[in-house]
Amino acid sequence: MASVSVLPQPPVLWSRVDQDFYICTVGDAVLGYVERHGLSYAGFDERSRAVGSSTSLTDAMAAVVGDRAPGSGAVRTGTTEGPLYALVYTSVATVAFVESHLDALLASSRAANLANSVTGILLYRSGRFVQYLEGSRSTLTALMASIAADPRHSSVDILVEGTAASRQFEDWTMGYERLTEASDPLPEGFRSSFDDLEGESTDDALRALRELSFWFRVRNAA
Ligand SMILES: Cc1cc2nc3c(=O)[nH]c(=O)nc-3n(C[C@H](O)[C@H](O)[C@H](O)COP(=O)(O)O)c2cc1C
Repeated sequence: MASVSVLPQPPVLWSRVDQDFYICTVGDAVLGYVERHGLSYAGFDERSRAVGSSTSLTDAMAAVVGDRAPGSGAVRTGTTEGPLYALVYTSVATVAFVESHLDALLASSRAANLANSVTGILLYRSGRFVQYLEGSRSTLTALMASIAADPRHSSVDILVEGTAASRQFEDWTMGYERLTEASDPLPEGFRSSFDDLEGESTDDALRALRELSFWFRVRNAA
C-alpha cells in the first residue's frame, strides 16, 4: 500500500479588521472573509465570490473555510516585478485629524508620491496611523526622514522594511481608509488586525498588514 505523507498545514486564523469585516488567513495566504450586513453574515472566498450567508457568524465562517485546501488558489501577496523597497510604520496623531485635515494631507502626499514613484496606503483609526510605502530605497529613506519630522504625528515606529518583489498598491499614489473603532467586543477566538500591528510579534504584524491590505482592496474594488 502506498504511504501518503501529510505535510503539516499552518493553522487557520481569524481576525477582525474593521467593525463588520472578518478575515481568514492560512500561513501567508488569505482564504476568504465574512462581512456583516445588518443581521446577516455573508462569506466570500479570496476572490470575493460569495460562498454562503447566514444569520450566524460561525456558519458563515464555516462556509469560507469549507473543505478547500489552504493555498489552492488563495491570494498570495506579491508577484515578481523587480527590486523595490517597502516599509510599514505606525504613528500617533498629535492633532485631531478631521476629514478636511486628512484631505489636505492626502492631496499633497499624492502629488509628491506621483512625482517620486511612491505608492502605498494610509490607514487611520482612533488617532493612530499605519502607512505602507513602496518605492526606491533612496526615495523612501528621504521621505521617511520628512515623515518622521512631521509635527502632525509622533511615535513613528517602523515595523518592517526591506526589499519587496513587487508593488502591492501600484494604482495608489496613497490609498486611504479610516477604520471604525469596534463598539462590540471581539468575538471569542478572533485576533484584532489593527491591535496586532502594534504587538511584540513581527509575524503577527506582518499577518495583520496582509489582512488590512486585503480589506483595503475589497473595500476599494470597483
Ligand atoms: C501620517 C502622515 C503620512 C504622510 N504621508 C506622506 C506621503 O505618503 N508622501 C509625502 O510626500 N508626504 C507625506 N506626509 C507629509 C510629510 O510628512 C511631509 O510633510 C512632506 O513630505 C513635506 O516634507 P518637507 O516639508 O520636508 O518637504 C505624511 C505626513 C503624515 C503626518
